[in-house]
Amino acid sequence: MMADQPFFKVTIDNITVEVPAGTTILEAARKIGGDVAPPTMCYYSKLKGSGGKCRTCLVEVSKGSEKDPRPMPKLVASCRTTVMDGMEVKNITSERVIDARNGVTEFLLLNHPLDCPVCDQAGECDLQNLGYDHGLEQTRTEFVRRTFPPEDIGPYIQLHMNRCIMCFRCVFAAEQLTGNREHGILDRGEKARISTAIGKALDNEFIGNVIDVCPVGALTDKTFRFKNRVWFTKPVDAHRDCPTCSGKVRLWMRGKEVFRVTGRKNEWGEVEEWICNECRFHKKESSDWVVEGPSRISRSSVIAQGHYAGKVGTSPQPVLIDKVIGKDPRLVMDIHKVSDVNKPEYHLEKIEGPAHSNDFK
Ligand code: SF4
Ligand code: FES
Repeated sequence: MMADQPFFKVTIDNITVEVPAGTTILEAARKIGGDVAPPTMCYYSKLKGSGGKCRTCLVEVSKGSEKDPRPMPKLVASCRTTVMDGMEVKNITSERVIDARNGVTEFLLLNHPLDCPVCDQAGECDLQNLGYDHGLEQTRTEFVRRTFPPEDIGPYIQLHMNRCIMCFRCVFAAEQLTGNREHGILDRGEKARISTAIGKALDNEFIGNVIDVCPVGALTDKTFRFKNRVWFTKPVDAHRDCPTCSGKVRLWMRGKEVFRVTGRKNEWGEVEEWICNECRFHKKESSDWVVEGPSRISRSSVIAQGHYAGKVGTSPQPVLIDKVIGKDPRLVMDIHKVSDVNKPEYHLEKIEGPAHSNDFK
């Protein structure tokens, strides 16, 4: 960043932040955090060129800038739109945005099989989360979904093309991490698919990272497939002295058994550091690793169920929503004040035998 780079003030959902010029609305919103940050299915901050494909990150610009306060007529992709000084943006405070996001979710699910019960990504799938927040209870379409013949792309990575949402993340990851064009998108329109073209194996030493960037279960780890549900495993951060990568990983364990090795993901679901295939696929003994401690995982994640240490958000969180919608927090009602039945002078534990209506006269 240049020393004289100007800073712009941008207000998102009534919260103002200052960010360097050139920052996208999405990155500014992530600076605020929580629900103010739009969901993303294709953008990945560590992959150049990513974003602009899925439209889940749409926001409403209600004021263009201080100089030109006119609102932008259409919703814009926040991952691809940079902030202007004085810009005002609505994300969760805009009905138009929520409506559009519901539509995008329905669109993404048009061709996505609802096979979560057998999908290894269930429990940590971005589309599953998006569906819970913005999806309909039932599909409105009856036509047959797109299906593709199975394609073997090597011994470690399972491609399940029917689940792919064409976000391009894996293509960018393969190109940018391996320096080679490992695979790509073939064909167009509804026939478009991820492929190696000639059934070649994806076998670069960093190629396993495509599994971590895939937002759905289209690319999964063959060494973990069907072995366990992710919420039954316990994630711990661990490291080893690796000659190829940083060796900083997340182990998904059950007892002493290491079921899976992945990169460590941050609160936006993006890996902190890329890891090599050796660490990911071949180091499955707990003796291979130095365990640092339980991973920090979001309290709202299904993976957090039953894990009591290291959850993100175990300390009281700021009540962001109240700041956003400009309301005071709702008071927790004192049941004694609002109920005619449970009067404070009656102590249920002091009543002998079962309580009866006569006890409350
Ligand atoms: S396989 Fe996964 S990462 Fe690659 S384009 Fe499809 S959904 Fe995106
Ligand atoms: S995350 Fe912005 S368009 Fe996909």
